[in-house]
Amino acid sequence: MADDISERHIDALLEDMTLAEKIGQLTMARGGGGTGGPELMDAQLDDVRAGRIGSILDMWGVDGVRRAQAVAVNESRLGIPLLVTLDVLHGYETIFPIPLAEAAAFDPELWERTAQAAAEEAAASDVALTFAPMLDVARDPRWGRIAESPGEDPWLGARFAEAKVRGFQRGLADASTLAATAKHLGAYGAVMAGREYNSVDISARSLHEVHLPPFAAAVRAGVAAIMPSFNDLAGVPMTANAFVLRDLVRERWGFGGVMISDFGAMAELLVHGVAADLAEAAALCLKAGVDIDMVSDTYPKGLPVALERGLVSQTLVDEAVRRVLTLKARLGLLKGKSRGSPQVSSERRLEHRALALDAARRSLVLLRNEGDVLPLSGEARRLAVIGPLAAARQEMLGPWYAAGKAEETSDVFSALQHALPEWTLVHEPGSAISGAEPDGLDAAMEAARQADMVLLCLGEGSGMSGEAASRARPGLPDCQRKLAEAVFALKKPTVAVLCAGRPLTVPWLFEKANAVLAAWFPGNAAGAAIVEVLTGAWNPSGKLPVSWPVDVGQIPVFFGRRPTGRPADPKDACTSKYIDMQVAPLFPFGHGLSYTRFAYRGMRLSSENLNAGDSLTVEVDVANEGKRDGEETAFLFFRDPLASVARPLLELRGAARIALAAGQQGTLRFHVKSEDFGFPDEQGNPCLEAGEIEILAGPSAERGALLSARIHIEA
Ligand code: BGC
Repeated sequence: MADDISERHIDALLEDMTLAEKIGQLTMARGGGGTGGPELMDAQLDDVRAGRIGSILDMWGVDGVRRAQAVAVNESRLGIPLLVTLDVLHGYETIFPIPLAEAAAFDPELWERTAQAAAEEAAASDVALTFAPMLDVARDPRWGRIAESPGEDPWLGARFAEAKVRGFQRGLADASTLAATAKHLGAYGAVMAGREYNSVDISARSLHEVHLPPFAAAVRAGVAAIMPSFNDLAGVPMTANAFVLRDLVRERWGFGGVMISDFGAMAELLVHGVAADLAEAAALCLKAGVDIDMVSDTYPKGLPVALERGLVSQTLVDEAVRRVLTLKARLGLLKGKSRGSPQVSSERRLEHRALALDAARRSLVLLRNEGDVLPLSGEARRLAVIGPLAAARQEMLGPWYAAGKAEETSDVFSALQHALPEWTLVHEPGSAISGAEPDGLDAAMEAARQADMVLLCLGEGSGMSGEAASRARPGLPDCQRKLAEAVFALKKPTVAVLCAGRPLTVPWLFEKANAVLAAWFPGNAAGAAIVEVLTGAWNPSGKLPVSWPVDVGQIPVFFGRRPTGRPADPKDACTSKYIDMQVAPLFPFGHGLSYTRFAYRGMRLSSENLNAGDSLTVEVDVANEGKRDGEETAFLFFRDPLASVARPLLELRGAARIALAAGQQGTLRFHVKSEDFGFPDEQGNPCLEAGEIEILAGPSAERGALLSARIHIEA
């Protein structure tokens, strides 16, 4: 909401504006004349002067932004500043781990702090809105954008959404904040076969139950903007999906903010085959409630024609313009000047650096550690550091690294040299990241032969995950596989660090490596954080926010599946399973090892009977039975065994962390409400049915390791 003064100002502006100026406020241009860059081109500056552009994306460097802003403020008739936008997903200058990695920390406070730090740095470069958080529930590692998401679970996505919106926006209280954009609505993570930009055709139930909850949480947290996704949903492209965008999100959820189309998506309605020309496309989008056209020329070219043809009303145009101006007012952009950008002090930047290290170490997941080969210990030894990602600073930043710099990033090999000065360390890449054959095999094998132990740094290049990076075979490229297999044949103790934007399907590697660390793309502090874990300076605490498949053929594999009428039974052929592969993932959601051992000793419930509106506290006793201090994340699940529709085998309702010294026992508390055990009907309305509910708590979604108790819901 804008305040009274702004409301009057907006009323006055709307009175005064020409149609072209109104459409200008609904038009987003891209820096550098369309390719992104540090300046607007002369023709674009003319458009700003004429009020034909209201917002810009992909301009980097504060000088060009200020020049453009000065033209908008001083040379356009109405003097309305531009809304400057950018994809600030996991940091601006200081780069934090990619979202999938950060999700592995299961730490909303951390998620909020990294968003706040990113906002401060981006706002100091005059950015006012970020296209984040990305909230697509992602259960298919073929889809490259899983890297940008908080993983497979809607409850987790909702907590991530709230934390990120709070962190970026902080109520938009001052100019060091960013307006956040919840994207991409909706169900983009369910693109068929994991193929980028593909169609989505899912049930209303999974839309409401799985894909929408993170967006609903973002709206409740006051997110400023929403971006519809590229995909169609059962034939209706999301950019024109009036049912979801207008009826559900605007009307029922009460979202009054700005909707911004994805890049060029409005004009793509013609390619989807639902609009004959830009006028029809413009009418569909405006009626669906989309306010800003990101670089597709659909509103500037199509909207005047749509109005002439009577396809849309002037009222809808005015409503959209009002929402854009209201956001500008909330951002302090309607005061006849640009927003002003408080600088980030050098002290604060150092704090961001420290935060990047903490976020990175907390996002690393130790998947396997046979014979406690990690942490590296004992007297100094010879370690061969092999693989194309051992000294690959740029790759550590992952996709969407904004103004992040490779030279401000630590790599594994240099960090090892720093941490283990007594050791003999040799680095040989052995192979490029992609390709058929390893081009440095001989040198790598020689180094490995001379060593007592091998560290393999393998994985994806940063461009192999993220947008437009679907992979039909999300494993390791052939050259890296050949390199790794040659090293394994030496039968030396071998540790693998996997840097990637997704869980990689590499069952052969897990069979041979003594230890495997999922490092994702950790950001600026990559090397430092990975080496802290390898040396035991940090006891790993990250847990998988996504099930890790054995093989691509199992995808999608996730813990929230339904029982089926014939649950998998190894003794019965005619049950739901494969004849050539296990049903379970290689590692379940929540898996993650520590150098100590945690035992779950008992669980207590505050009540066994709940009425609608009642709360429940679940206490779980956890003991650190090992020899090192450590942190454990415990999960609270439930199972509704009998309902009017088959319910998932496990549903997540809590994640809580506890730090325990060696030998110490502590208690984790989860607070839930009776409503948390309900489910949406096909219209998205909440239902709570009476009956028994099984409450389960423990270290991961591995059912056998969970403590269990029952409650009764009296709905
Ligand atoms: C992506 C969005 C992004 C936009 C602007 C699109 O291609 O799908 O996630 O925000 O570009 O860069």
